[in-house]
Amino acid sequence: MAPRARRRGLLPALLALCALFTALQVTFQVTSPCTSDRHYEHLGRCCSRCEPGKYMSSKCTTTSDSVCLPCGPDEYLDTWNEEDKCLLHKVCDTGKALVAVDPGNRTAPRRCACTAGYHWSQDCECCRRNAECAPGFGAQHPLQLNMDTVCRPCHVGYFSDAFSSTDKCKPWTNCTILGKTEEHPGTEKSDVVCSSSLPSRKPPKEHRIYLPSLIILLLFISVALVAVVVFGVYHRKKGKALTADLWHWINDVCSHLSGNKET
Ligand SMILES: *[C@@H]1O[C@H](CO)[C@@H](O)[C@H](O)[C@H]1NC(C)=O
Ligand SMILES: *[C@@H]1O[C@H](CO)[C@@H](O)[C@H](O)[C@H]1NC(C)=O
Repeated sequence: MAPRARRRGLLPALLALCALFTALQVTFQVTSPCTSDRHYEHLGRCCSRCEPGKYMSSKCTTTSDSVCLPCGPDEYLDTWNEEDKCLLHKVCDTGKALVAVDPGNRTAPRRCACTAGYHWSQDCECCRRNAECAPGFGAQHPLQLNMDTVCRPCHVGYFSDAFSSTDKCKPWTNCTILGKTEEHPGTEKSDVVCSSSLPSRKPPKEHRIYLPSLIILLLFISVALVAVVVFGVYHRKKGKALTADLWHWINDVCSHLSGNKET
């Protein structure tokens, strides 16, 4: 066999093979619906898969198609499948700060999300408490459910004086509207302090000093009275003159005190 003769015979053979392949491919596609994701091949046959919400209790036979049965109450399958059982819905554990945002059904899985104030963390695969913004910073609104807090510094005219994962920066008080003047300017961490035009602070201040002194006075008087009674009991006879003296002294003190009160 000469090499030339070999090449001459090879080319038509290759072309014929190519034609055969394309023809086969076409006929295969036309005759076999098993390329669809709703079918599968079994025992040389093309059979139906089970629709979402059902599982395959038995595969097809040469004479019958697959048998599909619905998933149980807490189960699902979300694809056209050949599964021999359904998947169990996951539990949204409230103890792990999870809540069901979609209860799920036979055709869709239950979806859990973190409760308000928590966000999903990839690191621990758990819900983490949202960060708190330090004074001088406010939480960006609208708050995103299942997302960590985004803290932004307060702009001029606004302040935040506490740690919070939800509060925005609050506007400074406008003293002019309140009919007062600004005593201290506001900062990003503190409100403006308005000067009070009326001396409304004095009465409570006087009251604060007056009340403790009155209590001390009453205590002193009661101690003195008890002393007098005890003294009187032990020295009923001999103490008569002494008690009279004491009564006289108490009267003096009382009249002196009442005189003080009046002024
Ligand atoms: C199942 O839940 C999915 C997702 O919420 C929804 O699109 C679908 O209509 C529900 N199916 C039934 C039968 O309720
Ligand atoms: C306070 O309110 C008045 C009247 O609305 C306004 O003219 C003024 O600019 C405000 N002052 C501040 C400091 O915001």
